[in-house]
Order: sequence, then C-alpha cells, then structure tokens
Amino acid sequence: TESETDTEPEPDLPTEPERGSLFSPAEAVDLDPAPDVVHVELTAAPHSFEIAGEMVDGWAYNGQVPGPTIRMRRGDALVVDFHNDLEDPTTVHWHGLHVPFEMDGVTWQGAPVEPGGDFVYTFTLDQAGTYWYHPHVDTERQADLGLYGVLIVEDPDEPVADRELVVVFDSWGEHDADSEAGGHHGLDGADLTWTTNGLIDPLFEANAGESIRLRAVNVANAGYVDLTWTTGGEPGVRQIASDQGLLPELVEAPSVVLAPSDRADFEWLVGPDFAGLEVLNQPYSLLGAPSQGEPLRLFEVELAEGGTGEPAPGPLAWPFDGLEPTPDPGAGVTDVLYAFHGDPHTGDWTINGELFPDITIESLSLGAWSVVELRNVSQAAHPFHLHGHAFEVLSVDGEPPPWRIVEDTFDVPPYATARLGLLPDNPGDWMAHCHILPHVEGGMMTVLRVE
Ligand code: C2O
Ligand code: CU
Repeated sequence: TESETDTEPEPDLPTEPERGSLFSPAEAVDLDPAPDVVHVELTAAPHSFEIAGEMVDGWAYNGQVPGPTIRMRRGDALVVDFHNDLEDPTTVHWHGLHVPFEMDGVTWQGAPVEPGGDFVYTFTLDQAGTYWYHPHVDTERQADLGLYGVLIVEDPDEPVADRELVVVFDSWGEHDADSEAGGHHGLDGADLTWTTNGLIDPLFEANAGESIRLRAVNVANAGYVDLTWTTGGEPGVRQIASDQGLLPELVEAPSVVLAPSDRADFEWLVGPDFAGLEVLNQPYSLLGAPSQGEPLRLFEVELAEGGTGEPAPGPLAWPFDGLEPTPDPGAGVTDVLYAFHGDPHTGDWTINGELFPDITIESLSLGAWSVVELRNVSQAAHPFHLHGHAFEVLSVDGEPPPWRIVEDTFDVPPYATARLGLLPDNPGDWMAHCHILPHVEGGMMTVLRVE
C-alpha cells in the first residue's frame, strides 16, 4: 500500500521460507481515473492455496486469499463489476456498510448471482472505517473456502501513519475444502490453525521511528481472537478504532477481543529501542471465556535494519470526537427485543424461539431513534450483527460501556442483556444475525424491517 522510499539494496540474507513475511493483502486496481470513483473487478472462482504446507482446494476473489483490499475515500462512489466463476450461486455482502438495500448481497429479496453470471454492485459511502466483504449465500461454507476481503474507507480528516498494515485473521480446522462442513470451524480454540493474511505466524519488519496503523479483521467462522501484546512500554499499542471507525478517544487496553467479523484499528509508535513485539491470540472458547490453552502467536514484529533511529513520535492527531456514551433510557423504552436461545448439543440456535427463515419480522420506523434489547439466555456468546446500520451500545447488564461504542457487530456475553440504540436511517429488510456462522446455519438469523 505505501511505497517504501528507503532504497537500501536488499542484502542476500537467508530467509525463513516456512514462516513468511507479513504484508497487507494486495489491493484491487482502480480502473476509473476519476478521483472520486473507485471501479474494481471482482471474480469469485475456485482457487488452490497452501495453508500450513497443505494444499487447500478453496475459493477466492481474484485468485487471492484474503481477497483484494478495496480502498476508497469517504464520499467516493464504488463500482464493483462482480463475476461468478463458481459452480454455485453466490453474492457479495458489504459487512458494516450502509449500502442501499438492493446492494446488500442478501437473498432475502432478490436472486443470487448464478454460476457464470454478473452483477454490478454500486454505492457511495460516507462512513470511514475498516470493513469487509463476503458472500451471503451458504455463507458458512462459502466464506470458509476463502471468500473474504477487506474494504477500507479512508477519512481525509484522519492523519496518515507512516505505514499501514492490514491483517486478516482466519482459523482453519481440517484442511479439506470438500469435506461436508467445509474447511475451518474453530468452535473452540484448542486445535485450530490460525493464519494472518494466509500465513502462519509471519514476521513483520517495522522501521524505527515510524508510526504504523494496523487494521485488524477477524473473518473466522466461529473462532474468537483475543489479541494481547507481549511488550509493555514500547511500542505503545493503542486502539484507535473499532467496527464503525474511530473511537471517541485513544484506548490503551491490555487486550482486545475480536469476535467473528469484528474489526479494530491500532496505532503503533516504533521507537529506536523497540525490542520486538509478539501479537498473540489467547484461544477463546465459544462459551465466552478464554480457554486454558497456550496463547498462539499470530504474528511477530521485528525492528528492520536501518530505519531513521528517530525517537517514536507522539500519538497522531486523530480527530476523536470525545463523545460520551448515550444514556440508556431504561427498560421501559424498548422497541425490539431479541432473545437468544440455543443448545450446543442439538445445534439449534434461535432468536425469539424462531429458526430462520420461519421468522416474525420486527419493524422500526425510519428516522425514529430506537432501542433494541438483546437478551442472551444461552451459555454461548453471540456476536450480533445488523446489516445496513450502525448502533451504539447503551448498556450491558445495566452498566454503561466504558467509552462510547459504535458497532455493527457486538458480542453479547452468555446470559447477558445488551441494549443498543440506533437511528434507523436506511429503509429495507435488514438481516440481523449472530456472526458465528454455525449458529446462522442453526437458525440464528432474523430480519429487521426499517420503513
Ligand atoms: Cu458479515 Cu450478514 O454478515
Ligand atoms: Cu451465536
């Protein structure tokens, strides 16, 4: 993404081929010279790739896993010429983006793109942040096989870090795309292979004196990522953004949990005394607690030879808005109530006792601030995702969040009640579901109508 201006000749050092160097996924080529239009081609097709030394007969967008990162600026129009070269129907869903309903890539209304077929997805985006795209047909299997990519909407008002690193975490079980259930499940942390941009425990080389913006996405079907950092002090690893763009302020947390489909952005300031950084995943169990297993290393950062030797700069001037959480108006004010039930033994996961598609459609009025209450009456955590909108977390078990949290996916802990506030500003029949894809297959999906 960023071109290196440092033209040190590459010394002929022995490399560690089994480990791999960490780079951001290649970006989609913008075919339109107009400054405010991003026009890309996206083709879904079978693709073989290697995970942990084994070949996987998977699927990919444009022949790469993760698929091409689509980068645009707030206010740009995106045009995606999508082509389906698979033997199955598919769609592209733009996770976290407020797209017009007919561009949402769901089959609730509207047919999927048939094998050999095309579809032009086009919309304008006015929200900055780190998003991603994936199919919304037979999602568990299709995403599992390698269909996912990152979509970045830059904000011209945000400072530009010296370097940006996009990392996509995925978990892989049996490396057999043809198996009944697909490749990677990750119901429990125990025996999963985690990849970062398709590589196992790759190495990233940071330059002393640079600031790095890290955009992290967890695309695993069911596995949680609990990011922890091994070095205290230097470099500072600070969270600056979550699902829906910048946080209200800089957050220094010892760890950050990414539920399936969650994103977080971080700022790192690399000082001259930087002695390496390990980014670890404490395996996380579906039942909502870190497992007892050893943490896995997702990737490692080393100081590159050379660099400026300058002291690390101070935090970049992010335009945080400093907003406080909106107060929860209290249990008397609830527009929609969703109760999550489930039984890990039968595999039935329900919302209000209903299994998708046999659901009752709840409605919200366009333009009227609304409260959605999520009552998790199951022993599993459920990352609740709503299409076409962002929401604010008002409270969890009656407690306001520590800072203002605006998300499109929120992980509701076991037996907890979360209350969300949102402005329904996008008319449509929006899917609302748990983003643990085996739970979706088990029925945990509904439709929230905004009219
Ligand atoms: Cu990531 Cu219904 O989507
Ligand atoms: Cu769930």
